Amino acid sequence: MIPSGVIDDIKFRCDIESVISSYVTLKRTGANLKGLCPFHSERTPSFTVYPETQSYYCFGCGAAGDVITFVMKTENLDYVGAVESLAKRAGITLPDFDGNDGRPRGVSRRRVLEMNLEAAKYYRAMLFDERIGEPGRRYLAERKLSSAAVKRFGLGYSPRDGGSMLSHLRSLGFSNEEIQTAYFAGKNDRGYYDYFRGRVMFPIIDVSGNVIAFGGRVLDDSKPKYLNTSDTPAFKKTKNLFALNYAKNAGEGYFILCEGYMDVITLHDAGFGMAVASLGTAFTEDQARIIKKYVPKVVLSYDSDEAGQKAANRAIGILEKVGIEPKVLRMSGAKDPDEYIKKFGADRFRSLISESSGKFDFAADGVKAKYDCSIPAEKIKAAAEIAQFIARVYSSVERDIYIERAAKEFSVDPASLKNDVERERKKIASDYEKKRKGELIRVTAGTNDRVNPDFARQPKAARIEEAVLGMILLHPDYLTRQPDGRRLREEDFVTALGRRFFSFVAENAENGAFQFGLLNGAFTPDEVARAAKMMAERTELSVNDGESFDVYVRALREENAKNAADMTLEDVLRMRRGKDANAQNTGSGG
Ligand code: CTP
Ligand code: MN
Repeated sequence: MIPSGVIDDIKFRCDIESVISSYVTLKRTGANLKGLCPFHSERTPSFTVYPETQSYYCFGCGAAGDVITFVMKTENLDYVGAVESLAKRAGITLPDFDGNDGRPRGVSRRRVLEMNLEAAKYYRAMLFDERIGEPGRRYLAERKLSSAAVKRFGLGYSPRDGGSMLSHLRSLGFSNEEIQTAYFAGKNDRGYYDYFRGRVMFPIIDVSGNVIAFGGRVLDDSKPKYLNTSDTPAFKKTKNLFALNYAKNAGEGYFILCEGYMDVITLHDAGFGMAVASLGTAFTEDQARIIKKYVPKVVLSYDSDEAGQKAANRAIGILEKVGIEPKVLRMSGAKDPDEYIKKFGADRFRSLISESSGKFDFAADGVKAKYDCSIPAEKIKAAAEIAQFIARVYSSVERDIYIERAAKEFSVDPASLKNDVERERKKIASDYEKKRKGELIRVTAGTNDRVNPDFARQPKAARIEEAVLGMILLHPDYLTRQPDGRRLREEDFVTALGRRFFSFVAENAENGAFQFGLLNGAFTPDEVARAAKMMAERTELSVNDGESFDVYVRALREENAKNAADMTLEDVLRMRRGKDANAQNTGSGG
């Protein structure tokens, strides 16, 4: 009901960690955070927040979901109410929306691209208009952008007086509906109005040279600082990168990934043509996959504040997941690359690139900054923390390398450190086992599972099914795997809910990625919570690789076959219908 672009915006600006932190005291454990559950009373924390998937899950009571679900529950609001409350928190004005989000479906990609090109020309002309563009030009000069950079990036200015873009595009033959679809106009009870006003405009250009969207920055400290084109028939912001059109030809063998448009422009201007940025959302797996087409390595250059470092941490995980080597650039004396270059110059930035370090050093630096290792008690804490980090590294070869290095850097005995790491790994495994048992008791004690009523009928199969679904949610690319020679199909699942989850993800996954938030459109909040729980449970484990996935799928099929004996006639008929539809590519298996 609410445009998905708006939901993306809200989720980007309302990081789950910071929202939940204002209700619950959270403590970091590895990549995740823990606290006392706000939804049931407990003395040891079992409420876990997963920044990487922007979800939460309580191992005690089973509460689960994303930032919107969390606000719905704690503030006792419905979906729209929670979205409104988060929008307010983020300083976003919600656009008017009605049943089908107010934007007509019938506008073509081609029309939007034509409009975007005209708009880019218009904004640029306005920037150079003697009178109208004066505030924009003054702002860009204050930011010390060279006129070459302004030209190269096609920057522009959206006039402060409303309506001028509307009338310009109308005069070129575009309809109000088209203009609104492309995000040049919003609509309220008094009619249409210009979406971007009094802002410096940054066109976003794809690798084929199309203008696909805009970002617009205010000239002062008012909010929101940026407005961006939300998704249109010609633009999906999680699947594009700012300046990729230039960076793809930089030929440096790596990209510099920054947070902001300004950072990228300054970097290009200073000779770093391999800089790109994500577009008003946190860095996504889709974007990582796009980068991988061009380069095998990324140097992260995020803001030096805490939020930036957290975002860098998350980006490291995403880059590693798709097989890109992440490096992190450490900057002091400036808040972002833009400020750094303007203060210290390009040469010093170049040496920061060559000094950029891998994820181990990034973690080690973080620990060092936190403790004074000349004090024995502090050093012990530091060593324990680095052991925790190493324990969570999947590959044992990699762990051994880090143990050697950590031993040197913190001057501790490598053998003792290795012991600590092994102990920590055992603890992670046994904690998980305990939690899982608690969870099992909870699920099986309540034989009335309202969310998934089929669960109690075949609990064993249903549990395996949840593991398989959790892995698919974490790794949608597993959908193309063929355990025992064939892909997963709907009828491999044993509960009606499981089948619905599977079909939905299979239909909506694109290029091996799936936007978890899409579930909100097709499932009830309780069902979305169940999906978050499945994902959370898998996140806790280190066996989430393709081969383990195959093992689970095999087990699921076996259980399914066993249960076939107990099936009702109705079940059989329903399954046969599914099978007939797939008959040509299945053979006899099952
Ligand atoms: N962003 C956004 N909406 C906001 C704030 C930020 O879409 N309200 C996105 C923009 O893509 C922005 C990026 O997040 O470029 C990084 O934010 P920030 O560091 O605040 O912006 P800068 O580009 O560094 O802008 P400036 O230096 O002009 O403040
Ligand atoms: Mn900045």
